[in-house]
Amino acid sequence: MKIPKHVAFILDGNGRWAQERGLSRSKGHEEGYKNLRSLSKYILSKGVEVFSVYAFSTENFGRSKQEVDALMNLILVGVKKYAQEFAKENIKIVFSGIRNYPLPKDVIDVMNEVEDQTKENSRGIFNICLNYDGQQEILDASNKIVEDVNNGILKLPVTKEIFNKYLYQELPPIDLLIRTSAENRLSGFMLWQASYAEFYFPKTYFPDFKEKDFDMALEEYNKRDRRFGKIKEN
Ligand code: FPP
Repeated sequence: MKIPKHVAFILDGNGRWAQERGLSRSKGHEEGYKNLRSLSKYILSKGVEVFSVYAFSTENFGRSKQEVDALMNLILVGVKKYAQEFAKENIKIVFSGIRNYPLPKDVIDVMNEVEDQTKENSRGIFNICLNYDGQQEILDASNKIVEDVNNGILKLPVTKEIFNKYLYQELPPIDLLIRTSAENRLSGFMLWQASYAEFYFPKTYFPDFKEKDFDMALEEYNKRDRRFGKIKEN
């Protein structure tokens, strides 16, 4: 069985999961978070080295204040719990996104603390995209590159390898990208890193996507013929 090195997840369908049960949307995010905790451990235990998740997009700030506040609180408490558990598991936690307003200050502080606490961990990486937009990530990298070229720190031409170092985090390309809840879109998620990713779009809402569902995704991934633009050799 081939194990993808980098698995990325768009955690979708929490709201619909809750609404179908007559619960608040925030309850759906809570269930999604609970599920993510067990699923992330399982995925990293399978030998996946990098696990990325879309926890909050820059556009998500357009949701109701009630939902945004509840999500920020869930993320704040959740990241702290993750830090305790992953410190023992030798997993490094990193964040991608704009680490600035409108993210609350206590969330930004925890992001910085947790990255610092886990920076020496070497078994795997958990990359949390928070206040994230993939086009903005590419623009931010481009602007930093221009600055470094202007200051004589960097010489042209910029290669893909160099560009990758200017992104929010230097990560390997995504091999398997999963978006739950039957939505077949990227919504600006890790556009640079997803260039050759295999896409998997199960119908399941995220709170219901369990270990066996990930095993099915792995089986499907193993059936895919990844040619990277080349012709298959016999
Ligand atoms: C999309 O579902 C999900 C989100 C906007 C939030 C996902 C975040 C978490 C589960 C918390 C993660 C926490 C940590 C610490 C990493 P949706 O609300 O768009 O669902 P819908 O499309 O059914 O409305």
